[in-house]
Amino acid sequence: MCGIVGMVGENLKVEDLVVSLQKLEYRGYDSAGIAFLGDEFEVFKKKGPIDILKNGLKEKGSKGFLVGIAHTRWATHGEPNDVNAHPHTDCRNEIAVVHNGIVENFREIKEYLISKGHKFSSETDTEVIVHLIEEEFEGDLLQAVMKAVRKLRGAYAIAVMHRKVKDLIVAARRGSPLVLGVGNGVGLLASDVTPLLRYTRNVVFLEDGDVAVVKKDGYEIYDMDGNKCERKVYYIDWDEKAAEKGGHKHFMYKEILEDPQALVNALVGRVKGDRVVLEELEPVEDLLKGIKRIKVVSCGTSYYAALVFKYFVENFTDIDVDVDVSSEFRYKRPHVRENDVLVAISQSGETADTLESVRLAKRHGAKIVSVVNVVGSTLDRESNVSIYMNAGPEIGVAATKTYVAELGVLYLLGLKIIELNGVWNEETKTVLDRLVRMPELLENVLRKDPQIRELSEKYKDYNHFMYIGRNYGYPTALEGALKLKEISYIHAAAYQAGELKHGPIALLDPNFPVFAVIPDDSLFFKTKNNVIEARSRNAKVIALGTEGNKSLYEIADDVIFVPPTHESLYPLMMAPVIQLFAYHIADMKGLDPDKPRNLAKSVTVE
Ligand code: F6R
Repeated sequence: MCGIVGMVGENLKVEDLVVSLQKLEYRGYDSAGIAFLGDEFEVFKKKGPIDILKNGLKEKGSKGFLVGIAHTRWATHGEPNDVNAHPHTDCRNEIAVVHNGIVENFREIKEYLISKGHKFSSETDTEVIVHLIEEEFEGDLLQAVMKAVRKLRGAYAIAVMHRKVKDLIVAARRGSPLVLGVGNGVGLLASDVTPLLRYTRNVVFLEDGDVAVVKKDGYEIYDMDGNKCERKVYYIDWDEKAAEKGGHKHFMYKEILEDPQALVNALVGRVKGDRVVLEELEPVEDLLKGIKRIKVVSCGTSYYAALVFKYFVENFTDIDVDVDVSSEFRYKRPHVRENDVLVAISQSGETADTLESVRLAKRHGAKIVSVVNVVGSTLDRESNVSIYMNAGPEIGVAATKTYVAELGVLYLLGLKIIELNGVWNEETKTVLDRLVRMPELLENVLRKDPQIRELSEKYKDYNHFMYIGRNYGYPTALEGALKLKEISYIHAAAYQAGELKHGPIALLDPNFPVFAVIPDDSLFFKTKNNVIEARSRNAKVIALGTEGNKSLYEIADDVIFVPPTHESLYPLMMAPVIQLFAYHIADMKGLDPDKPRNLAKSVTVE
């Protein structure tokens, strides 16, 4: 995954283009580059994060421009270096292209272009795009791009400029996101909405196959056959400040502190009295009444949120909730029938495997309910019904506040489904009541940050961790282990606590600590026994449990308490703890938790 920005206007400043690009740094940070046309046509690219590009540009002196494109890269084809960085240019150094995605047939195209005399300088798949455009160019950049993209297989979002064309960028997408900013005297495009918020709140999401001409005073969109088309303009009510660090060292830390607010935003307006009101669900409510099973697809953290949803709905109803990782589901016999409901969970709404799973299920007649943070994202547009998380922009690569928002929405969705299926009793009312009060309690949990920090200091030098939990505690264990491994590069495994003795317990020794998720729930004593078993192998134990439960001191080396709640809601209550623990360890190890190695925020390729 990579980040693209483009600007067209008058007297634009190169610094502004770079500032916009920095908003996309979470999408890739191994190299960055820029091409701009002012008095001259210039291309400048550098290995490393955008700051290196920025410093290099500063040394060259401030420049104004009319047309500019920029790119931050997450390498797929060709190692990260200056040459493989985007933009790529053609043989005459007239056309520049930035690209996000993967050109699957780049080898064939490259051979063809070499036979036509084109000279390549990089190892990237992207370079074929610019030479293909050069090959097709007969004076009209739009036509050349249209002809070129028809020959590409795979995924692309591209922005293209020409040194002799001073008033436009041509952009195209298939499979990778691209958004245009609308109306304020600057033509704008970007991989997501965050760089656009400085200029406008009105945006257009290009659809697969679209080719757009972006000018300072407007844009035109064409389909693959060259027909002009209209696309809906979305209003984005995100606050630009929300996409800034606000004085914190890292976005991840700031976003963890926003967990309570993210939950408020996910719940607000959706609870009236002792009932959940999800008007968005209306089109599928009849299908949900009496439903026998629900399918769920998602990846990574969103998958763990899906597991919580499964435990929740299955605990209160007879409905089977089948949860699949999207990359598995899309290649399985889907077992989807006409009018089945498939819930797709994705904060970005652009995860390639989740989108393909949704398309597969739709082909088999399923109705799609998505839980999504990015309004207008591909998942949002392709779903029958979308329930927005309303978490605001999340810049840190590791999902934190969006996990909390996902859980918030999924509890509401679960409660609504439970009610539609005839179960509405004192217990479900209690869950809803506790859910609504949760943001305040999450603030209390965040106040434990100094204690969690101390614990991180104590445990940061271990090379392995085992997270365990039962029932609702199991997804928390999985998410805790994922957070730790992805940002601190410490090996962490997660198991259902009852599985320990079926193999994993063999790993435990004094150098392999156990992080036990052990709230006061109906399985407390079962989990406690598993913790005792672990301790008897001399493993150090951190217990994450419920305030007031002093017995945890007898079985654990260290204890972190969270306030009591309904047992189904502990995944929410405990989220800030597992997030902060991983965050501090990564920070103490001198790693940048906002930009973990080898990872990118939205995984738009398979
Ligand atoms: C982990 C993380 C990833 C994402 C996964 C799905 O911290 O962020 O595991 O959860 O890539 O992303 P979305 O929710 O955008 O589909």
